[in-house]
Amino acid sequence: MIIDQLKQSVACAALNYISPNTIIGIGTGSTIDYFIQSLDRIKHLIRGAVSSSSSTTRYLNRIGIPIFDLNEVGSVVLYVDGADEVNENLQMIKGGGEALTKEKILAAASKQFICIVDESKQVQVLGKFPLPIEIIPMACAYIITELNKLGGESKVRKNVLTDNGNIIIDVYNLNIHDPIAMEKIINALPGVVTVGLFAKRKADILLVGTTNGVKKIINTS
Ligand code: A5P
Repeated sequence: MIIDQLKQSVACAALNYISPNTIIGIGTGSTIDYFIQSLDRIKHLIRGAVSSSSSTTRYLNRIGIPIFDLNEVGSVVLYVDGADEVNENLQMIKGGGEALTKEKILAAASKQFICIVDESKQVQVLGKFPLPIEIIPMACAYIITELNKLGGESKVRKNVLTDNGNIIIDVYNLNIHDPIAMEKIINALPGVVTVGLFAKRKADILLVGTTNGVKKIINTS
C-alpha cells in the first residue's frame, strides 16, 4: 500500500517537467500508470505522446491522449519511465514489464530522460533484480550458453511473447559492477534484440518517491 502511495507521489512530481505543446515519450509499468493517471488532468496542455508498449497505448487511448509514431516525430523532448533497479549513477535495470526494446529506443531518442521510482528500487550494485534480455527465439540455447559464462543463472520467462514477437530471458544473481561493459558484451551476442541494462544511455534526472517526500538526483557526468 505504502509503495503505491510513493509511486503515485513520484509520478505526480514528474508532471512539473512537461513543457506545454510538446510530444512526450511514455514508458511502461505501474509507476507509469500513475503518471498517465496524473497526466489526464493536464492532457490539454500537450500535443500527445509516443508510447513504449501496447499496454501504455491502451491506457493513453482510453483517456484520449493522441499517440504519435516515433518515426513521425524523430525524437521527443522528454521521456518519462520507471525502472526495476537504479544505482547512484542513474543507470538502470528495466524490462520487468517486457517493454524494454521500445523503452530503450525512446530513451535513446529523447533529449531528457526522467526516471521515476519508489525508494525500494534504489541499489548500490545492479543485478539483484533479474536482468531481462529480449532475444530472437531461434538463438535461445546459444545465448543461454553464452550468458552462463558471465555468471548468473538464465531462465526463459514463461508464457511471454513481447510486442515484437520475441522471448525474454531473465538472468538471476548477477553483480553488475561495470554496467556499461556488461551492456556492451550482451548487446554483441547474435540474437540479442535488447538487454535491459540502461547504462550508456542512463537517466538525466531520477525522481525517487520516499516516505520523506520526492527526492531529485541529477546526472552530473
Ligand atoms: C517495463 O518494461 C519496465 O522497464 C518498467 O519500467 C519497470 O518494470 C518498472 O515497473 P513498475 O513501475 O511497475 O515497478
